[in-house]
Amino acid sequence: MAEFPTTRVALKLNGHQLQFEVEPRTLLVELIRENAGLTGTHVGCDTSYCGACTVVVDGRSAKSCTVLALQADGAEVTTVEGLETPEGLHVLQQSFTENHALQCGFCTPGFLMSALALLSVNADPDEAAIRKAFSGNTCRCTGYLPIITAVKAAAVKLKETVQ
Ligand code: FES
Ligand code: FES
Repeated sequence: MAEFPTTRVALKLNGHQLQFEVEPRTLLVELIRENAGLTGTHVGCDTSYCGACTVVVDGRSAKSCTVLALQADGAEVTTVEGLETPEGLHVLQQSFTENHALQCGFCTPGFLMSALALLSVNADPDEAAIRKAFSGNTCRCTGYLPIITAVKAAAVKLKETVQ
């Protein structure tokens, strides 16, 4: 089988400046999972539908299965592994736990990253804004209401911490 030439991609991944040699056809989700070894970003479909692969790229949520790794050259990428700090879980992770916003958890990294992108531009989202932010995320088992509740609760907590 013919080998593809590789290209260097430099990006900031969860706060770390990193470089990877990838084929031009490599998807961002492949770079994240296979090259960087961060398997919290999931692949749930072959159709750009499920949103399990959602990450934050330069502040905006993106389905990493629809982005070439080369397109992320120079970008700042945050995956679910970038949420937790030495101080503990991110407010969103804590809120998902407290509000029973997950069952199997397969979709959860994608929902968390969509929520993170939303709260970075809208600190006080109403239900319509949350539903819109999740329009690209699918959950097959929890139902969406606990997830929406979790985001609302996280927004309140985040506002309290900045006051
Ligand atoms: S893996 Fe399903 S949208 Fe990316
Ligand atoms: S918690 Fe199972 S798919 Fe969402």
